[in-house]
This record gives sequence, C-alpha cells and structure tokens, in this order.
Amino acid sequence: MGELVYIEKLAFGGQSIGKLPGGKVVFVSGAYPGELVEVNIISEKKDFNIGKVEKIIEKIPERRIPKCPYYRVCGGCDFLDLKYEKQLQFKEEIVKDQLFRIAKVPEEFVGKIQESKNEYEYRLKMEFAFDFQKKTILGLKKRNSNKIVEIKNCLLAPKQFNKILEFVPEIVDMYKVPIYKNKNGILKHLVLRYSPTENSVMSIFVTKTEKFLEAKNIANVLFKKIPFITSIVHVMNSSDKIVLRGPYKVLKGEGVINYEFDWEKFQVPPTAFFQNNYFITGKMIEFLTKSLNLEGNETVLDLYSGLGTFSIRLAALTKYVVAIEGNHVSVKAGKANANINNIRNIKFIESDVEEFLISNEESFDVVIVDPPRSGLSKEVISKIIEMRPRKIGYISCNPSTLARDLKTFLDSGIYELEIVKPFDMFPQTYHIESITILKQKR
Ligand SMILES: C[S@@+](CC[C@H](N)C(=O)[O-])C[C@H]1O[C@@H](n2cnc3c(N)ncnc32)[C@H](O)[C@@H]1O
Repeated sequence: MGELVYIEKLAFGGQSIGKLPGGKVVFVSGAYPGELVEVNIISEKKDFNIGKVEKIIEKIPERRIPKCPYYRVCGGCDFLDLKYEKQLQFKEEIVKDQLFRIAKVPEEFVGKIQESKNEYEYRLKMEFAFDFQKKTILGLKKRNSNKIVEIKNCLLAPKQFNKILEFVPEIVDMYKVPIYKNKNGILKHLVLRYSPTENSVMSIFVTKTEKFLEAKNIANVLFKKIPFITSIVHVMNSSDKIVLRGPYKVLKGEGVINYEFDWEKFQVPPTAFFQNNYFITGKMIEFLTKSLNLEGNETVLDLYSGLGTFSIRLAALTKYVVAIEGNHVSVKAGKANANINNIRNIKFIESDVEEFLISNEESFDVVIVDPPRSGLSKEVISKIIEMRPRKIGYISCNPSTLARDLKTFLDSGIYELEIVKPFDMFPQTYHIESITILKQKR
C-alpha cells in the first residue's frame, strides 16, 4: 500500500500537488485537486517528492471519459479527462496562485479566463513527427519520451489534418523516402497549418538535409489528392532541437497561408510564428488594444512582434508602431502584412530585442512585450523601465515567468498593475496565455 495523498492544487505544467502525512509536498500526474489518491513515491528530493498515482480513491465529479485512445500515452494533452469548465477554473486558479506566490499580486487583479470557442479542433498548427515502424507513420511524441506514437485522428487538430495524416505516410512509402532516425535518413516532420478563413491547409515537409529528391513528386500527388491543400513547402532544418526553422522551398501554391480577423489580413509564411487558436487570437487583439485605452496619438514599441499580430491593430489606433522581431522571415511577413492592410505607420526592425534596447534612444508611450516562455531578461525589463512608457502590455505564455517579471516591474515602484487576463489558447493542455496591463504610477 502506498501513501494516501489529498490533492490540494494543480501546478503550472500539468502536475498536481498534495502533501504526504508529515507535510512533505508531493508532485503527481493524473490526479486533480479535491481527489484522494494512493501514491507510490518514485523519487525523493530535499523539499519535495515525486509520486506515481496507483489508485484514485475519491474522484471529483468533474472527471469525464477521455475521447481519445492515445490519452496519457501521447504527450499532447493533459486534461482530456476533465470537463472543460473545470479546466478553465483550474487555469484561473494557477494564474492567481503563481502571481500571488511570486509577485504578491492579490487575486482581484486576475480577470475571468477567456474560454476558447472550441475545446477541440482548435489548433491552427501542428508538428507531427515521421517514424518508421515496419512502415512509415506520423505521430506525436509519447509522454516523457522521444518515442513516437502513431496518431491517426487528433482531437485538437482540425478535421482536415486527419485526412492528410492518413494519406501522407502512404505516399512517403510509395516513394521510399528514408525517415530520419538515429542520425540517418531524410524526412523528419510534417507540419500542418490550417486557416479557418480560407478553409485551407499548408503542408510543410521538414528534412534533415537539403537532399529530398522525391519532394516534387510527393507534392504533385498530395496536391492532386487533397483539394484543400493550397501550399506545399519543403523546409531544410539540420537542428534536432527545433522542428520548424531553416531555409525553405515552395513546392506548390503561394507558400503562405492567409488569415483574416475583424479587418486585418495576415499572410503567414511556413516558418514564422503565428498564434495557434484563431478565436482566442481575435479576442487577445481586441482585449489588448481596448485595455490600453488608446487616444490615437501614442507612440508604441512592440517587442517580440512576430509578423505583426498585435502591431497592425495597434498602428491603426495610434500615431505609429515600431515592431522589433528577431526572425527574418517574420519581419519580412510583417512588412508585407502592413502593406496588405494599408498600414503605413509601422516600422519593422529585424533585431534581437535586447540589442535593440541597448542602442535605442527613443522613448515610447506604450511598450508591448510578447516574449517566448522564458520571459524577459533583467536587462530588457530595466531598459523598458528606464524608457518610462505610460503603459506596458505584457502578453505571456507562461504564468511563472510572467509572475517573476511582474515582480521586477512592480518592485521598481514606478508601475502598478491594472489587470491580468488569462486566455485559454490551448484547451486540454496545461498551457495558459495571458495579457497583463501595467500603468505608470502618478
Ligand atoms: C510568442 S511569439 C510572439 C509573436 C507575436 N507577438 C504574435 O503574437 O504573433 C515570440 C516572438 O519573439 C521572437 N523572438 C524570440 N526571441 C527574440 C529575441 N531575443 N529578439 C527578438 N525577437 C525574438 C520570435 O521569433 C517570435 O516571433
């Protein structure tokens, strides 16, 4: 018999936290706050243990039967066995907990989480890995492993992806393309991007090296077979760490996929970042620009701007926007997107954010940041504070680093918090996006 543990809360990252008799903290997977579970300890650390749930003794009533046969084998989803309303409640609690624990932000500052319109089939982009298991397969990484589990039907993917998943391995085998494994072979990933605006899919084949002799033939067959594929692209990427980067060749179509929001149009090239849930992205653009209470004469600095997801709307509502982005492809797309939308008051600069801030001498009324998961460096925060913008909008995909960075902004004594609004960009997973508005104290 293992230890009896009452689960107290969910941590950011999908693990739950409970206490062992005696009070030591234990982290487990697959149990939810309010449940009583029997746990076997698999690892002991100084301040906490890691346990494996052997038996759920008391379940919360919000559990449900997961609709996916790969659940808990595939590493993609964390909460398929939890009703969506409860996922939202837990995510809101995680944001409140992180902000209070790390930055002493009272929970009244955290707004209601914006739910996703669809809890399934919402993903605009998915990265599937090729593997060879007697025949070519496409799938996702297994939980806590680099092995691939074959996926024929992913609940988070638009239906269109599933048809492609069925067909692509057959064509790859037909042309006998070697799958990249143990440092040998060619074909690594199939990345699919979906646009609800056009009901179209961009299919991106990622290879280890430039050599992909069968690319044209495969693209011809696929393009003919699946009418909603509007672009096929070959990306050459020698990195084994990041899936989608490197030079690319367009094999079929225009090589961009188009999205339209209220009035903004976006062209997205294969290797540029674009937010992953169409409905939530629209809501985030709206929330950010409305909560900044713009008057029309502000100067705006948009750091980590990508291809202008927020910059385009901001430019329409202010004097001008300077957008800083490190990825060359995104900067080029940002310039194209400004043109397409007839926006003339944005300047996209290709630069590392920190390097830009070190040499920048201009002050801005509003600064927007949307950094990767690691959040902002101390240098970036101190440069922003030095600039004294009246308002700061912080778009975050990680409540822990957000809380750490907010603490630094608040400890400066110059900024106060207006609101932190969570957004459920990724239902069924532990990920939480949010937008925070800070204003300069009077
Ligand atoms: C989370 S994405 C946000 C993009 C954009 N705001 C959007 O909503 O589409 C972060 C972006 O920052 C860029 N990036 C990451 N590190 C950077 C750095 N040190 N300097 C400049 N850009 C960076 C990435 O290329 C990516 O486009």
